[in-house]
Amino acid sequence: MRFARRSLLLIAVAIVTIATLVIPAGGLTTATDPESSESDRAANLLSQMTLEEKLQQLQLLSDGQITDADAKAGVGAVFSLTDAAKINHFQHVAVDQSRLHIPILFAYDTIHGYRTIFPVPLGAASSFDPSVVTADDTVAARETATVGIKQIYSPMVDVSHEPRWGRIVEGAGEDPYLGSVFAAARVKAAQGTDYSAADKVVASVKHLAAYGQPEGGREYNTTDMSEQRLRNLYLPPFKAAVDAGVGTAMCSFNAINGVPGCANQQTETDILKREWGFGGFIESDYTAVAELRACPPKTPDNGPCGHGVAADGPDAAQAALNAGTDSEMVSTNIRDFGKQLLAQGRISMSRINDAVRRILRVKLRAGLFEHPYVDQAKAVDPKSFLTADDRAAARSAAGKSMVLLKNDGGTLPLDPSKSVAVIGPLGNDQHDMLGPWWGQGRDADAVSVFAGIKAQNPKTTFTQGCTILDKDPPTNTPADECGSDAGFQAAVDAANKADQVVLALGESRGMSGEAASRVEIDLPGKQQELIDQIKKTGKPFVVVLFNGRPLTLGNVDASSPAILESWFPGVEAGNAVADVLFGKVNPGGKLPVSFPRELGQIPIYYNHEPTGRPCDPTSKYNSRYRDLPSCDPLYAFGFGLSYTKFSVTNLRLNTQSVSKDGKVTASVDVANTGSRIGDDVVQLYIHDPVASISQPVRRLRGFQRVPLEPGKTQTLSFTLNSSDFGFYDNRGKFVVEPGRIDVYAGDSSNADLVQSFTVSG
Ligand code: NOJ
Repeated sequence: MRFARRSLLLIAVAIVTIATLVIPAGGLTTATDPESSESDRAANLLSQMTLEEKLQQLQLLSDGQITDADAKAGVGAVFSLTDAAKINHFQHVAVDQSRLHIPILFAYDTIHGYRTIFPVPLGAASSFDPSVVTADDTVAARETATVGIKQIYSPMVDVSHEPRWGRIVEGAGEDPYLGSVFAAARVKAAQGTDYSAADKVVASVKHLAAYGQPEGGREYNTTDMSEQRLRNLYLPPFKAAVDAGVGTAMCSFNAINGVPGCANQQTETDILKREWGFGGFIESDYTAVAELRACPPKTPDNGPCGHGVAADGPDAAQAALNAGTDSEMVSTNIRDFGKQLLAQGRISMSRINDAVRRILRVKLRAGLFEHPYVDQAKAVDPKSFLTADDRAAARSAAGKSMVLLKNDGGTLPLDPSKSVAVIGPLGNDQHDMLGPWWGQGRDADAVSVFAGIKAQNPKTTFTQGCTILDKDPPTNTPADECGSDAGFQAAVDAANKADQVVLALGESRGMSGEAASRVEIDLPGKQQELIDQIKKTGKPFVVVLFNGRPLTLGNVDASSPAILESWFPGVEAGNAVADVLFGKVNPGGKLPVSFPRELGQIPIYYNHEPTGRPCDPTSKYNSRYRDLPSCDPLYAFGFGLSYTKFSVTNLRLNTQSVSKDGKVTASVDVANTGSRIGDDVVQLYIHDPVASISQPVRRLRGFQRVPLEPGKTQTLSFTLNSSDFGFYDNRGKFVVEPGRIDVYAGDSSNADLVQSFTVSG
């Protein structure tokens, strides 16, 4: 018996060994054709490389780190270098002087524009119109590639229910479906069908994984995550990016269930590379490999450390490489300790080869071997950037991204023939309009709200009231964040002299983005007092908000007749705001995140699971807050007003019953019942009321933004299949269970039209 078991074990080991020899390292993949010429060329190069050269390929250095010696030794990639002359210089050293002439891959954080800055990604997602990010990434890829950069660290696809977390601004909000549609659109626009094209770049989807859910909303913090949530909520946009052909990916700083993103075999290798067939490479985030190390008890500074899943640098390199990280950003553990680790049998040559092969394939596909250098004349030619067409695209994108949160008594649109007082800390601001990832955007390029409004109405004045500066603690003072009301009287005087007031309020761009978590998410400083004082003048006014996260706006909502959520709109901010305020553009954006009433409601998101005691503020033993007479957010996911009115009616399904692999078509009519042309976003949600694990009360599974003339009706159709009505269980298995599925349609997540169908067993 014992002998039989041992034989079986030996046979199993033999099968695994043979499989490892036959199947290329990294597994057979659908995204990578092993027969493609890139693969052959990569294999050929690989066969000529020394171990040192291979380890160099796995190194990604910053602009401040790269030296001629690195380039000569064959370093893999460099990020944040934007000077075409320097890029060409290092590329020449790599191509002319390194033994195998392998070019460097230059990378950059082009997140919502390179020089032509588009709305921040959370704003772009508010458009519910993927053509907005197609325009963004088309312009961004062209401008980025023009300086010789061939990889962008975008799209950032972290689903987040954490408005305290500053990086919520970089993603598409709280919904995996919306996030997936936007992720795919960005990848396709940035890469095109062939990212070797002169105006295309390879995209890097980030941050793998669940980085959007740090405990307490505190940046870089840990995450405890069920398998079903990881797969149902956080991974779908990564999968969508992979299906769209994304060439590279970045592993995250945070840990899930105690396992840091860059040492996470499950997410990096098992899911991304094996299950999804991702054939590209994974770079670590900035020093994320070094951060795997434990920090010594007292020694003040031995470099990045913290996670404590590795004792030292070699241990960190081993953990990262073996988990599936292919390229190390900034820290140099794999390069420094790879040889020693290999000799000790702690890493394998096949894994090193796999990582190098992945990197070489991307470089080959990027056409770097044929075209390693950039046209410097073009790279410094002002005509290459921020063209009139690009500006027009950014303006249109910004207009489409704005969300009208309130408009009592037809306050908006403003009358362009009447005088306007622009008031507020962000009213004549160029700097903050660009948002927290401004790339190579320049403040001077940006159109302030005052400039934009004045261009459409010369009878416009500006009074600041108070200042909001982009300064980080501890160098900032309360006065830097509208902590002083010394300028309020002048603001009130200006309001009194004008017919109508535009209050430009919100956050500085440094209050969101990386390392910008906030413990309060209301309007900073005394901005609410400024609203209250302007209200007392009795003049009609609108609050125009600039911010990178959902804010708690209860007081703003209670005191203001009109509120326009503009996010950080980018280089054309003021023009786009003026277009919307004067009614040239009818706002049609919808919220991609829920806006809580109170901070204590966080996390609050529309696609939550039900409880056995659903919230009811009027009785005691249920899932309510005793000190909040409401269960809802202030503004729901998918909500946004228009200057016209829409009705969504007549939801119908083409069948009442489908097999597990069948399809259901839902149709609905949307009509513009108001008097202006406008866009509505029709949204389709589903709910599975009886399942083996509780299913979210609603899940978005379709949306369409449609422009409609007054009086016009359009019928829209949505197709649902098992990818919509199935879900992942806690063993990581995708299941399609028999039973009823409810389908909701409308123009917010509160959609109340409902029809049902049954999935047969
Ligand atoms: C750290 C950020 O987390 C990541 O998003 C970015 O791409 C890298 N730094 C490189 O700048």
